[in-house]
Amino acid sequence: VAVKVQPEQKKQISDKLMGIFFEDINYAADGGLYAELIQNRDFEYHPSDKQYRDKNWNHFFAWTSKNIESKLDSVNPIHENNKYYLILNNGESLTNEGFDAIPLKADEKYNFSISAKTYGNSNKLLVQLVDDAGKVYDEVNIKVNASSWKKYQKSFKIKETVADAKLVITPQNSSKVAVDMVSLFPENTFHNHKNGLRKDLAQVIADLHPQFVRFPGGCVAHGDGVDNIYDWKSTIGPLETRKPNRNLWNYHQTVGLGYYEYFQFCEDINAAPVPVIAAGVPCQNSGTGGAGQQCGIPMEEMDAYIQDILDLIEWANGDAATEWGKKRAAAGHPKPFNLKYIGIGNEDLITDVFEERFTMIFNAIQEKHPEITVIGTVGPFYEGTDYDEGWEIANRLAVPMVDEHYYVPPGWFIYNQDYYDAYDRNNAKVYLGEYASHLPGRPSNIETALSEALYLAAVERNGDIVEMTSYAPLLAKEHHTQWTPDLIYFNNTEVKPTTDYYVQQLYGQNAGTIYYNSKVLVDTDDDKVQKRIGVSVVEDEKDDAIIVKYINMLPVSVNVTTNLGTLITSETTAEKTVFSGKPDAKEASLQTEKIKTTANQNMELAPYSFTVIRINKTN
Ligand code: AHR
Repeated sequence: VAVKVQPEQKKQISDKLMGIFFEDINYAADGGLYAELIQNRDFEYHPSDKQYRDKNWNHFFAWTSKNIESKLDSVNPIHENNKYYLILNNGESLTNEGFDAIPLKADEKYNFSISAKTYGNSNKLLVQLVDDAGKVYDEVNIKVNASSWKKYQKSFKIKETVADAKLVITPQNSSKVAVDMVSLFPENTFHNHKNGLRKDLAQVIADLHPQFVRFPGGCVAHGDGVDNIYDWKSTIGPLETRKPNRNLWNYHQTVGLGYYEYFQFCEDINAAPVPVIAAGVPCQNSGTGGAGQQCGIPMEEMDAYIQDILDLIEWANGDAATEWGKKRAAAGHPKPFNLKYIGIGNEDLITDVFEERFTMIFNAIQEKHPEITVIGTVGPFYEGTDYDEGWEIANRLAVPMVDEHYYVPPGWFIYNQDYYDAYDRNNAKVYLGEYASHLPGRPSNIETALSEALYLAAVERNGDIVEMTSYAPLLAKEHHTQWTPDLIYFNNTEVKPTTDYYVQQLYGQNAGTIYYNSKVLVDTDDDKVQKRIGVSVVEDEKDDAIIVKYINMLPVSVNVTTNLGTLITSETTAEKTVFSGKPDAKEASLQTEKIKTTANQNMELAPYSFTVIRINKTN
């Protein structure tokens, strides 16, 4: 096999090609990336959080106490968005089991807080972290001395690791005491933020080197009915004032991980924020009006809805003197967040109801904020239709970028590497916002990962029209998944990246901004063979590096000769990484070595492998 590289035939490609899509699906946020360890901390879980109401899923979920139902109250709550709380009696313990228990690590500090008020004299709360056998890992005392809501804070120092602790609160005196917003966070969060993110999970995401983060969905963004559309405004500000919501993936969203935290995470990992806002219609235009029937935000409410979107831009980018910029500054971020993109819509059915509302929103953003790139949607993927109706609207309105989604089998990726070659370069750019090589219900493996690697080489070749890509879904908590496969699995103590994760990582860490025309020349007419070998040559201008990626999806090794011509003028050093394994293996072998190279490369590509050569241009 020979690889023909034509250094003189080059093009500028997107510097945002490799990003991530974070959706609160599979317990990705609460019980996942959001580091809060207390489940149902505000007693706001409700049977209606579940699609098929579940009587056990209620204000007491994850809590136990004697006659707990009798302790619930909602008179003078801590905030109107946080109506429920419990009133505790002397000596009656209240226990929280966390999300599948509370994991604690030796030598770590945990910050506890509780909002409380007494009915009478002051009271003392004994707060303990214990295991099932009753062993106490640490305890603190809190003196509740006010008859109106007040926040009390203490910290625990843990000496021993335990995977399955619980939190127990016991009033010590006879006066009743009301409690709400019971919270426990590790001190050690990602970038040490209060109300922060779980460090190991955030780090494994950061290690992908994403150039942008799309959030909060997916279906979560547009909800499964007009009243379930994600409302960014109710996810900012003090935690007790945020409005928890039913998550359409059949659980509860505290929105403790809200817009402020999403933007902060983007900043921490140097990724562009890409919030997605519903196009005035819910998931597949469903919900009120009956599934499948068209429904959207009533026309008389659209002005207010559009204003909310304009306010988001002011909240993210306005200075601290603006109404919404002031709220961002008050939350701790006086500097603007530098928002450049907004997604409008997610995989919506392309109907009149959609078109009317999308057009109104798009025009308003264009008029008030021409500096913002709006990413439209071209609807769900049906093979053969090529999103015709969605593209027709996008072309007519001159939408700068559109979001395409496809979950398809590995064979689709192998046989559709030319998918973007014929896209009209005068039309909207493409954001491939959700994709995965999909064997429904089956885990990812070397075959799915390599088919994505092969396809991403074709995406780099089309990096002048494809501006962004993100695999989906990103995270999944073991035993709490609504979607398979996902990129990263985790439980309370472990993080388990999949085979496909390493492909994303290799592309993310080896992204380029110039693409050099390159072709695989195989000495056979057999399409099946030709389609299973791929190459991409890009330059990372910032790092002065040439990156060559080879994919071999054949069951045999392949000898490849590459001449990089004028791209490399003398012998230099390179890093070679090889990802390989048996096609059905769920784990990959990853090997990295330093090599010397010149413009002429001869190498053997292992069977079922993805090889990345990162060449230092200057030494
Ligand atoms: O990624 C999972 C779901 O797939 C997203 O929420 C939705 O946009 C798509 O249908």
